[in-house]
Amino acid sequence: MRILVIGSGGREHALLTALSRTSSGEHDLHVAPGNAGMRATWHDVAVDDPAAVTALAREIAADLVVIGPEQPLVSGVADALREAGIPVFGPSQEAAKLEGSKTFAKEVMATAGVRTARAKQVTEPDMVKVELREFGPTFIVKDDGLAGGKGVVVTDDVREAVAHAKAVIEGGNPALLETFLGGPEVSLFCLVDGETVVPLLPAQDHKRAYDGDEGPNTGGMGAYTPLPWLPEDGVQRIVDEVVVPVAHEMVRRGIPYSGLLYAGLAWGDEGPAVIEFNARFGDPETQAVLALLESSLADALYATATGTLADLPPLKWKDGYAATVVLAAEGYPANPRKGAEITGEGLDDSRIVLHAGTAKGENGGYVAAGGRVLNVVGTGATLEEATKVAYDVIEKIQLDGSFYRKDIARPAIDGEITVGPSR
Ligand code: AMP
Ligand code: GLY
Repeated sequence: MRILVIGSGGREHALLTALSRTSSGEHDLHVAPGNAGMRATWHDVAVDDPAAVTALAREIAADLVVIGPEQPLVSGVADALREAGIPVFGPSQEAAKLEGSKTFAKEVMATAGVRTARAKQVTEPDMVKVELREFGPTFIVKDDGLAGGKGVVVTDDVREAVAHAKAVIEGGNPALLETFLGGPEVSLFCLVDGETVVPLLPAQDHKRAYDGDEGPNTGGMGAYTPLPWLPEDGVQRIVDEVVVPVAHEMVRRGIPYSGLLYAGLAWGDEGPAVIEFNARFGDPETQAVLALLESSLADALYATATGTLADLPPLKWKDGYAATVVLAAEGYPANPRKGAEITGEGLDDSRIVLHAGTAKGENGGYVAAGGRVLNVVGTGATLEEATKVAYDVIEKIQLDGSFYRKDIARPAIDGEITVGPSR
């Protein structure tokens, strides 16, 4: 199969790596715009431009287009490809509103009876203080537009909450105030084709920049899978209580979902509650999850894209665990420094090092070109082994000023994560 992957981050590098490691035959892999670490044919394209992406897919006669990031989905790239008769993995513009509009997602969840935080949209700066009285003591203030996970402030400081809400509104988007959902977080990725839902392994992301969950929210600093602390029926409960009802509600609304639905959840005393949906694979959880996939990813994505997911044989997974550790550039997330040289071992081994913000330097080596520079992936029989493999590699990679979290999966390894009573 000739497969075109749209995107340029660690998630897309993980997708390409899994697509190249396949039991379903060799695939001819293409990527646009890609990054320096990817082994595929690169193309330059404006990823948000439906006509441009469709023209590229036609030109190379792609059998399948896989859309990695959310922006092209929200811009309707999947719709244009579908109209052109090209199989595409990724939801329509309307369906991607589950990620693109938090208000839409709340509406769908309310109708579908899915547990989530109570939310209030505020559009007037003067109303922020009044409305915040109904929330707290921990305040959640979100930008009700696309912000790549960076538009959220979680704080016990009401002044900070007010300031952020006002800044969001002044920036042109509504602010969304939410009640705080307690409990450990779970990322569950599901292949969804209409009413058919196939879950991948559950993962956990570490969103704060520094060890011990200190510092600003980021796109994600590391992840591990599966989750030893999740109740045995945890994935099934998320599928039954969250993803299937939402998939059903989307069908009922005449906007069936086709692609990856990423449920970001907090596992509270009552079980799973939705923090957010994303219309795409999560980054960096994908880097860990796909490291354990034994079945052909190409077959799974193609089945989803062509409406035959119900006929796909059950997915097979490797035993054990996987962990990803993100190497971030100095100054990330506020102001990442670009251009510094990256050296070390394993930079060309895509089983272990997945590139994100990298580019080719003048002397042929790699340089940092983004905030999250690369991901190191480790696998092992235990979670501790998996993280050790990743840390042994990342310790030997040099990038001036860079940093990474030293405690990925640590609370899970130490048995510190507990969940409330199961049903
Ligand atoms: P989001 O942009 O919705 O992905 O939120 C980013 C992060 O903020 C999440 O991964 C959570 O850690 C945190 N968060 C967002 N909403 C809530 C909530 N209602 N309760 C608790 N934590 C939240
Ligand atoms: N893992 C966070 C995200 O992909 O949004």
